[in-house]
Amino acid sequence: MAFLRLLARTMGRISTFRSYQFVLLLAAALAVVAFYYFASEKQNFSSTTRRIKETQAGHNMNRNGPDLTVDIGLPHAAGAEERTEEEKDVKERSYHALMMFTKVDKNRSLQDKFRVAMLSLVKYGRFLEGEVLVLHFVCDQASKELGEEMLQEFLIDATFKYQVLFHDVSALTQKLFPIVESMQKHFSSGSGAYYSDAIFFLSVAMHRIMPDSLTRIVQLDLDLKYRENIREFQEFHRFPPGAVMGIAREMQPVYRHTFWQYRKENPQTKVGEPHPDGLPGFNSGVMLLDLAAMRASSLYNQLLEPEHLAQLAAQYRFRGHLGDQDFFTMIGMEHPELFYPLACGWNRQLCTWWRDHGYGDVFQLYYRCDGPVYIYHGNCNTPIPDD
Ligand SMILES: *[C@@H]1O[C@H](CO)[C@@H](O)[C@H](O)[C@H]1NC(C)=O
Repeated sequence: MAFLRLLARTMGRISTFRSYQFVLLLAAALAVVAFYYFASEKQNFSSTTRRIKETQAGHNMNRNGPDLTVDIGLPHAAGAEERTEEEKDVKERSYHALMMFTKVDKNRSLQDKFRVAMLSLVKYGRFLEGEVLVLHFVCDQASKELGEEMLQEFLIDATFKYQVLFHDVSALTQKLFPIVESMQKHFSSGSGAYYSDAIFFLSVAMHRIMPDSLTRIVQLDLDLKYRENIREFQEFHRFPPGAVMGIAREMQPVYRHTFWQYRKENPQTKVGEPHPDGLPGFNSGVMLLDLAAMRASSLYNQLLEPEHLAQLAAQYRFRGHLGDQDFFTMIGMEHPELFYPLACGWNRQLCTWWRDHGYGDVFQLYYRCDGPVYIYHGNCNTPIPDD
């Protein structure tokens, strides 16, 4: 049994650790027990969803049975019974982050990126007592098994409470496909709407996929490096009325390129022009999804309808292949009020591909980012600078 092998390996390592490390390790090992025990009933999305509901309804996540919260690094966290009323409102105090974690098992480069992302997230992550960081991973089975093992190591120094939830990619794809099928032809490479590509549009319809009790979530790429506490990144309260998500601008002239025909026909347009006067489009590496606002916005939900989308795509002569970020970019040209612009430092993209592919003269206008960098985004496999 995989779990026994893992435990044996863990026990083998214990002898080399000091006692406080032993406690941390034991906590991690217990989490793994929970992983393996509960994963043995076929873990599908609905059971995960149910767990979200259960834990949010419960007053204390640690007493709520099948969750993976590991209460480490909080030696003074008093017994559950002593929590204040305020602290019992777990829903208020849960911070949700989601990452796509598919096809990782055979890809060393992706594993290295995941390591950098998680270790930096843990290094800077600080949460208050009674708060929980809920990490959601969308995985295939093989990636999930590897992820469980890797997370054990990466989360060991976490000073905050966390919970890990794995979502099965095929179960999510099945739910997503009917919603996003019609948009795939506008924003996917190739000619058809490949069923398996639907998952690249998860953020677009997250509000319909996740249970209603989940009202906010941050979606993050794997090729990030954090330099700031992920908790500080909850800027939802700054959203103006009508905004459904927070997202940073795209920092290459990719949409100057994609909208070339529209730009030719509309020479005065701001579409595809650089920040701050233009509309350079969005990058989906870091997204703050206000699921409650997405559900409530009739405008946003209209834009998901095939006819509306086809009409906009025709109007802007748009044909892309970058999935969700193409969708957000295109609807953002027409309805910028749906988006709260994040400072570039929250998604400091490093890719320079377009500089060397015909856009060297304007590249810096898009690429520049003044102010502090909170998250580096090593997109298109660009190395991230050391601290
Ligand atoms: C592995 O992941 C990298 C991103 O880190 C990606 O560019 C590459 O295409 C992947 N390789 C394979 C074989 O999927």
